[in-house]
Amino acid sequence: MWSSSAVASNRAVLLTLSLLQLTRGSPVVTSGVSNYSFPDDFIFGVSSAAFQIEGGWNEGGKGESIWDTYLHDHPTFTLDHNNGDVAADSYHHYMEDIEMIKSLGVQAYRMSISWTRILPNGTDNYINQEGVKYYRTMFEELLKANITPVVTLFHWDMPTPFMNFGGWTNAKVIDYFEDYARVAFKLYGDLVKMWLTINEPHENCESTYGLAVLAPALNSHGVGVYLCTHNSLLAHARVYRMYEKEFKPEQKGKVSIVLDSMWGEPKDPNNPEDVQAAENYLQMHLGMLAHPIFSEEGDYPPFVRERINNMSREQGYSRSRLPYFTDEEVKALRGSADFLGLNHYTTQLLSPSPMEPTWQVPSLYHDTGVKMEADPLWRMPGPDWLFVYPPGLRKLVNWVQNNYKIFKEIPIFITENGSSDFGGTEDYERVNYYNDYLYQLLLAIHEDGCNVKGYFSWSLMDDFEWTDGFTTKFGLFYVDFDSPNRTRTPKLSAYNYGNIVRTRRIDFDYIKRLKGLNTTKQEDSS
Ligand SMILES: *[C@@H]1O[C@H](CO)[C@@H](O)[C@H](O)[C@H]1NC(C)=O
Ligand SMILES: *[C@@H]1O[C@H](CO)[C@@H](O)[C@H](O)[C@H]1NC(C)=O
Ligand SMILES: *[C@@H]1O[C@H](CO)[C@@H](O)[C@H](O)[C@H]1NC(C)=O
Ligand SMILES: *[C@@H]1O[C@H](CO)[C@@H](O)[C@H](O)[C@H]1NC(C)=O
Ligand SMILES: *[C@@H]1O[C@H](CO)[C@@H](O)[C@H](O)[C@H]1NC(C)=O
Ligand SMILES: *[C@@H]1O[C@H](CO)[C@@H](O)[C@H](O)[C@H]1NC(C)=O
Repeated sequence: MWSSSAVASNRAVLLTLSLLQLTRGSPVVTSGVSNYSFPDDFIFGVSSAAFQIEGGWNEGGKGESIWDTYLHDHPTFTLDHNNGDVAADSYHHYMEDIEMIKSLGVQAYRMSISWTRILPNGTDNYINQEGVKYYRTMFEELLKANITPVVTLFHWDMPTPFMNFGGWTNAKVIDYFEDYARVAFKLYGDLVKMWLTINEPHENCESTYGLAVLAPALNSHGVGVYLCTHNSLLAHARVYRMYEKEFKPEQKGKVSIVLDSMWGEPKDPNNPEDVQAAENYLQMHLGMLAHPIFSEEGDYPPFVRERINNMSREQGYSRSRLPYFTDEEVKALRGSADFLGLNHYTTQLLSPSPMEPTWQVPSLYHDTGVKMEADPLWRMPGPDWLFVYPPGLRKLVNWVQNNYKIFKEIPIFITENGSSDFGGTEDYERVNYYNDYLYQLLLAIHEDGCNVKGYFSWSLMDDFEWTDGFTTKFGLFYVDFDSPNRTRTPKLSAYNYGNIVRTRRIDFDYIKRLKGLNTTKQEDSS
């Protein structure tokens, strides 16, 4: 999930609103069945991440990740003072999870491996066979059910021993990540053919290393954030090239990375400065990670390089806070992906600003120089960073498609997208959200010619949402965190998503019929 990040500090005063929705140029459909359908080769899936659902934090020989350690040491770090020790207890209930995934009819399940479940201390000198067996069984059962496992190697749960010497800010971790990836490819490469190296390096580096939003809250603003970004990119390239050389000829799998981005909408689309600010934002937050991998020329985008060099110089640094790649590294990174995994949740209105009260100096946000605010008309059914603006997904996909020619040849997968609320199974907001965003995706595919080949909803079930603990719900399935069995119940959005997956079209009236309702869009009840 995309998590709070700096957006959280940008609390917009939300007006109570009814059905008014600012569309900014895109059609809104509220009834009927979409005329477009998702192509036959389009893959539908659901997503999860190990730390957010598994629990079993010290069972079966698992070692500690920084999320275990930090939350035990700082029990009030999360909103509800909970931790991930049990979470949705998928360590014990994974067969129920598979039944749920089957019931949705999806073709794929995106999940992550907990590094310290198979390598308890992070290093490959000792492989924990109980952990190995857990994931092997999971992959076998998924394949039996005709569900393709899509596996993330790193979804933020850095082994604690590595975090003690800096995590991703220490380039040595790249070697250990390569060792871990090799172990995973050897163990599971016969079953897993779609790998994702790192989940959202942008969000992870900014919120963990640059701010104090994600554990262990290092707050190395403007410096640590770029060391982390740089090393995450290098680690990705290292693992991609290693797979290419040692495993791909035989295993024939695909490897990529998951990048995250909100959409940046110019506050005033007729003001060239706002238009430029939006472009600058996207280059600094998405281009910084996408350009080295997907552009023809490689390396950081020229604008990003120049901007951070300038800011560093003006601030009296004798070197740029953004490290440099060697020519060899530029080459290793360029083209190091067989597709793009793209996570998207929300949109902000952007305009230029040299300084805002919430920014630290130096920082990624200060370097970017772009003010972010939400449109007061946008809905916000869950936490205070997730504003609903469905056309954002279409625009973001178009930005990616138009910035990097490579997407004429390799596809884009939406590896996460979803909506949050504060609970319950009658989740009309989420139903609307999926309908509206997937409709925008249909337009991106059919009217804009974007090469999008898959969509993974975040998330399969309610989970541990990092700093939000269990207060924020993203699931298609409700999880009763008060029950020792962590009982799972389908929400309306699960039935709705299942119908989209089965029919490959969006039926805007499906849930209304299912519930015998006569209304169009439900009023916000929160
Ligand atoms: C499908 O096309 C018809 C005819 O153009 C149009 O009236 C209708 O609104 C469309 N339905 C949707 C859901 O886009
Ligand atoms: C992991 O590290 C701890 C502490 O250094 C050590 O006691 C333990 O033996 C190590 N475990 C393995 C499996 O290497
Ligand atoms: C960097 O500084 C130079 C010299 O002041 C200036 O010409 C250039 O426009 C700046 N570039 C960026 C991206 O800020
Ligand atoms: C994608 O995320 C947005 C939040 O920005 C949400 O409104 C939308 O419903 C999501 N789309 C889908 C199809 O899940
Ligand atoms: C938990 O599951 C077990 C086994 O299915 C069942 O016997 C028990 O009643 C359940 N407990 C609760 C509180 O639901
Ligand atoms: C439609 O639903 C509303 C409440 O949701 C109710 O007040 C109204 O009577 C219903 N109308 C019909 C024709 O069923």
